Amino acid sequence: METIDELKLILSPEKIKERVEELGVRITEDYKGKDLVVIGILKGAFIFMADLLRHIDLPLEVDFVRLRSYGSSSESSGQISITKDVELSLKDKHVLVVEDIIDTGYTLKYLKEMLRLHETASVRLCCLIDKQERRRVEVEADYVGFEIEKGFLVGYGLDYDEQYRQLSGIYHMSPRYEARGFMPSDR
Ligand code: IMP
Ligand code: MG
Repeated sequence: METIDELKLILSPEKIKERVEELGVRITEDYKGKDLVVIGILKGAFIFMADLLRHIDLPLEVDFVRLRSYGSSSESSGQISITKDVELSLKDKHVLVVEDIIDTGYTLKYLKEMLRLHETASVRLCCLIDKQERRRVEVEADYVGFEIEKGFLVGYGLDYDEQYRQLSGIYHMSPRYEARGFMPSDR
């Protein structure tokens, strides 16, 4: 029998939209008059970043990095490497890193240390979801969309085994089970 994952909606598209707009407004106020570069972490942040940028009413530059974390598919080992580096010059720029979710914290800690080498004017982190359950290293995001206690989440850029990124809401995912349908009904 076919088995699929059970998805339960925890953040609706409307709720996400409202919060992303609030973050954009705050970021706009905080970076007025500054040379801003927004760096998205691929792949998970691509949808959040696209929506967030459209609420930042300032001149800005956009770049992306891609990081690889060794470990199992569901937990980072703490061994991180860069598979796509920054391409813009960050010297004397105010850098805002956009990430989908902080889990263990290894990814953002690594990236923050790496960005220090670029002689930036500042580095701040904006993260859609702060998940505290499995934090291993101390990292504080400057802008947080939602704090979620625990669980594995998919949708709005977040994947499980590369699936579900295109969902408009964010879902709590339970391990595979025998199900009736393919996609969540409240998508
Ligand atoms: P960290 O290095 O453990 O903080 O994890 C960072 C990366 O793991 C995130 O950028 C996500 O790509 C992925 N990740 C962590 N938790 C989840 C989750 O609940 N759903 C999907 N991806 C996750
Ligand atoms: Mg990611």
